[in-house]
Amino acid sequence: LTKDRYPDVKRGDYAVLNENHLFHFVDLLGVEKVLNDPSDCEKYNIDWIKNVRGFSQCVLKPESTEEVSQILAYCNEHRIAVCPQGGNTGLVGGSVPVFDEVVLSTELMNDVISIDDTSGVIVCQAGCILEALDQFLSEKGLMMPLDLGAKGSCHIGGNVATNAGGLRLLRYGNLHGNVLGLEAVKADGEIVDCLSTLKKDNTGYHLKHLFIGSEGTLGIITTVAIQCPPRPNAINLAFLGLESFEDILTTFRKAKQELGEILSSCEMIDAKSLDVSTGHCQLKSPIKEFPFYMLIETSGSNNKHDEEKLNHFLENVMNDGTVLDGTVTNEPGKMRAIWELRERITEGLLHDGYVFKYDISLPIKDFYSLVPAMLEKVGKDAVRVSGYGHIGDGNIHLNISVPEFRPDILRKIEPYVYEFTSNLKGSVSAEHGIGFRKQKYIHYSKSESAIKLMKDIKKMMDPNGILNPYKVLP
Ligand code: FAD
Ligand code: MLT
Ligand code: ZN
Repeated sequence: LTKDRYPDVKRGDYAVLNENHLFHFVDLLGVEKVLNDPSDCEKYNIDWIKNVRGFSQCVLKPESTEEVSQILAYCNEHRIAVCPQGGNTGLVGGSVPVFDEVVLSTELMNDVISIDDTSGVIVCQAGCILEALDQFLSEKGLMMPLDLGAKGSCHIGGNVATNAGGLRLLRYGNLHGNVLGLEAVKADGEIVDCLSTLKKDNTGYHLKHLFIGSEGTLGIITTVAIQCPPRPNAINLAFLGLESFEDILTTFRKAKQELGEILSSCEMIDAKSLDVSTGHCQLKSPIKEFPFYMLIETSGSNNKHDEEKLNHFLENVMNDGTVLDGTVTNEPGKMRAIWELRERITEGLLHDGYVFKYDISLPIKDFYSLVPAMLEKVGKDAVRVSGYGHIGDGNIHLNISVPEFRPDILRKIEPYVYEFTSNLKGSVSAEHGIGFRKQKYIHYSKSESAIKLMKDIKKMMDPNGILNPYKVLP
């Protein structure tokens, strides 16, 4: 429980929810959009990896921006703390209350407002599920510019609020580039309209960026406009087995050189991570066992051209011994099966017990160095010390699983893992955010002056600190 694991966190001076508050919310939204039965509230209080637990007795489910605005205006006036929540798939404890904050869920805000199949711009409410948007776009020959293992549950508003990266950032870039505009509600209920659908718009400060990656601490994102690329006609996926991390680096370098514009994903998995998919998730690997694996995906408009390029690249890396074995396919079912080996590691790891999860950016040559370092430090205590991730973007996911949470193991890992990262000038959160679990460690990657400016901005936009307290800021 949070209160056992984080004895140093004190509840802020916020109002305790009473009947009058609840009556007001019911008046505003209608009874079916206000949950206050403890069993109904349960799933909104526990995060996806079951690391953090809150004790909220109230979940609000607005359907429109106006309803969000009215909720926040009231909460601000009455000093009621609010935890914004999308699909609750966040991995740093940002999406669940720490104490009794009211949960504001975007579950019912799931309308697609418009789609322009020439410009590729989709405008939709924040609660649309990523995978549903992608399916909808596929009918128009378009796709979402991001994809991640949580696509079936995460909301686009949550993706934007965390600036989620995922499996194809290498090709399509991050959400700071792909979000053309957004609408958000400030803590005092004021609606901020930055909902441009233009690709180019240099009229003053680029305010949308304040909300992208702000993890619900500066405002609630209600609507987004996103630039979507054309859905590729030709997709090929290779799954490769390699002997060493050096070989992964060589293969990545060659993939960039030889596949160029058609390279759409480059991921790595170590043997212990693949064991999770083949073991706990009972998936089948298409090749035999190796110390390391890579997924290399190409996306283009002409399959003959792409296949030729990919086969030529694979011939080269296999002939010179960089890659030891591999399989390549363009059959949707087989590609799906290969992607599952990568995407389901997160879920499978939970079967080990408790997972200490780190999401680190490191200079590419040092990308894997943290895994052997941690193995030496906690190998004896752990069920597994493993690494996988977005090699194409220099972002590794280090996971240390143990039968159950133990504070002495935590002390062996932290702050060492952050010091290690900081010494190599890496980032202590590459894509998952800071949330509740990492705010004490933000200084390993952010200067004092930057943290001060973050605090000044927070104070200006949310003077009463009602939005997602205890999160992000140290
Ligand atoms: P939530 O978890 O509900 O919320 C996340 C944060 O955003 C919280 O701080 C919350 O308060 C805030 N928030 C949510 N909605 C809003 C809103 N409308 N306005 C303001 N604030 C809001 N992340 C990656 O970057 N790359 C990956 O590859 C990746 N893969 C994942 C795979 C799995 C299996 C899982 C479980 C998670 C993965 N994640 C990944 C974590 C990731 O952050 C999320 O899945 C996703 O971006 C969160 O969206 P959500 O709707 O679930 O947000
Ligand atoms: C991933 O890339 O699989 C996600 O970011 C989730 C994780 O770190 O396990
Ligand atoms: Zn990731």
